[in-house]
Amino acid sequence: MENNWANEFYKMQYEFIGDYPEGYHTESANEILEQAGKPVQSMLELGAWDGSMARALSKHVKQITTVELIKEMAEKAESLNPDNIETIHGSFYDVSIPQKFDAIIYIDGFGVGTDEDQLNLLKNIKHWMEEDGCALIDIYQPEHWKKADGIEMYLSPRTMPHIKRRYTYDFEEDIMMDTWWHEKDEKLNSTQYLKCYTPDEIYKLCKQAGLNIIGYYPHGAMDYESMKYNEHASLEECLSYRIKVMK
Ligand SMILES: C[S@@+](CC[C@H](N)C(=O)[O-])C[C@H]1O[C@@H](n2cnc3c(N)ncnc32)[C@H](O)[C@@H]1O
Repeated sequence: MENNWANEFYKMQYEFIGDYPEGYHTESANEILEQAGKPVQSMLELGAWDGSMARALSKHVKQITTVELIKEMAEKAESLNPDNIETIHGSFYDVSIPQKFDAIIYIDGFGVGTDEDQLNLLKNIKHWMEEDGCALIDIYQPEHWKKADGIEMYLSPRTMPHIKRRYTYDFEEDIMMDTWWHEKDEKLNSTQYLKCYTPDEIYKLCKQAGLNIIGYYPHGAMDYESMKYNEHASLEECLSYRIKVMK
């Protein structure tokens, strides 16, 4: 499947954000390993950015394969990765990977495209998973993003001065839209569109793909009145939640 916006948006996002510093993902990597629940020998990471999360995980996992859509990010990852990480530049919707993995992760970004695209991705994940393997996938929570509709803010005044973002919500299709631009030229904007799912909806979609959800882990939530981020939130209020799925 082709999403014209995905190439343009993530390339732009990478130009603005750049590479994550060494050590940035240590805590998240430990959380992933804890959620996997048992020692992981082989892991597949989808949407791997510059490979920094995989590098943090590679200290504890014997073999990791990453898939990343944007050439510049995959090339950066390849230039820094240790020998136990294989880097694939391609799309997780149609890439061919012969191995099976103990754990598959897709951190932040699920929801590109239609419901059918998500179903196909979940079927791919099932195909790449060992019989007793698991996947950890972050899902955007619609109830949170409804509240964010119309909110505008600076990305990070310190590290990205003049870069703004606006959230919009498509209430019919349950899609959150995240538009970025330089404040001096709003016309040069780029938007990501991510389909949001309630815990019940994603449960049903996973079932259709032959996967069972065995855990839900809520992330934090933004309070749009105080514009403060709270680290802890309920499953209904969180910005996104992680699901753990098995066959
Ligand atoms: C929101 S970013 C998250 C990056 C990283 N996982 C993190 O948590 O910081 C989504 C990532 O998925 C990648 N991506 C989007 N669509 C993809 C596809 N079809 N195949 C592979 N990677 C994709 C993007 O280029 C980007 O690196």
